[in-house]
Amino acid sequence: MPNHKQCINIDDLRLHAKKRLPKSVFEFIDGGAQDEITLGNNNKDFRNFRFIPRVLTDISHRNQEVELFGQRYSTPLILGPVGLAGLVRREGENHAAMAAANQNVPFCPSSMSTCSIEEITQKTSARQWFQLYVLRDRGITREFIRRAKETHCSVLVVTVDTKLLGARERDIRNGFVVPPKFTLSTLFDFLIHTRWLFDVGLGRKIKYRNFDNTSVNANSVMSITEFIKEQWDVSINWDDIAWFKEQWGGPVVIKGILSPKDARIAESIGADGVIVSNHGGRQLDGAISSISALAKIKASVSEDYPLILDGGIRRGSDVVKAIALGAKACMLGRPWLYGLASGGQDGVERCIEILKAEIDLTLGLLGVTQLNDLNPSYLSRTSDFDALG
Ligand SMILES: Cc1cc2nc3c(=O)[nH]c(=O)nc-3n(C[C@H](O)[C@H](O)[C@H](O)COP(=O)(O)O)c2cc1C
Repeated sequence: MPNHKQCINIDDLRLHAKKRLPKSVFEFIDGGAQDEITLGNNNKDFRNFRFIPRVLTDISHRNQEVELFGQRYSTPLILGPVGLAGLVRREGENHAAMAAANQNVPFCPSSMSTCSIEEITQKTSARQWFQLYVLRDRGITREFIRRAKETHCSVLVVTVDTKLLGARERDIRNGFVVPPKFTLSTLFDFLIHTRWLFDVGLGRKIKYRNFDNTSVNANSVMSITEFIKEQWDVSINWDDIAWFKEQWGGPVVIKGILSPKDARIAESIGADGVIVSNHGGRQLDGAISSISALAKIKASVSEDYPLILDGGIRRGSDVVKAIALGAKACMLGRPWLYGLASGGQDGVERCIEILKAEIDLTLGLLGVTQLNDLNPSYLSRTSDFDALG
């Protein structure tokens, strides 16, 4: 497979990324926690839902645009936060920001990006979202919020499912730990991936640039990782959400909700939306898949409360199923990283284009012309031929 342009689906992009990246880097993005049960189910469980298409509807004019927090986008996709995207491609987050702006989708850079929020937002005039990890040092947390405001980010995403770090066993085996335990074969693997070696391995230093000019020593990825382990605020609770709302003054969305009870609390305390997510199966292995959690969460909140489905999207038909079950949009993690590894900014755009085309085809074959028309009556559960709605 010569390049990302020949990739016709997300799995092709994944295989292409696998060839381009050293094993330990590929497994860092591709892997999940422990037995990877949740990682696997995130995608597999979409198969529990099957389409019931309608026929003889006029599908000449199909439209997949969506409005999210007051902004109109070309498709219900969001490039989600991933730390260390610069390990995949030099200045990976900058490539993503430009791809997102060209395709008119939101990009939500992580607090743990290798490019600073200032660098990323300078790349385009499009407004980014910003993902916040909450540190014990509320001073740094407050600073992050101030900088995200100053750089005109439009939505603050607070990730709440990472108080402790999940056990990613592929990383442990590959020596991708603190301190790194690389073997000769790992180093050899770096050397034979020459394109990656010159772009990333010998490129500018990989570090968490959002921590530059803070009290935190940002000179080494590994020392920061240790710092974060010590500094992640494990005491954060629902009462803190009011503080984020007050500091931010715009839409605050909570990422990492799986329980209908938590979704209801989030709405009642004024969070502006929730992201139904298990962190792409990288945290609590055995947690319910995101798509399985969605219907009950939808039933527990108000009709128009914004829900975003995150995890396991590999096909446009997955997106359509999530929207039929009540999501407003879907967030992507690994798919855009595969695109990034495969072809930089172009590769990320290829990822979005593939999914857009698949969404359009699925809508047309379902007999639907716009996302608002989707509802559970277009789906049945496996081996049950009655519509859900
Ligand atoms: C390499 C990698 C790094 C990630 N880093 C973050 C992060 O810094 N903050 C965060 O909220 N989520 C992070 N996530 C989780 C993603 O935002 C998203 O929830 C997950 O990847 C969705 O699943 P998917 O990869 O199947 O699309 C990361 C995921 C990956 C694969």
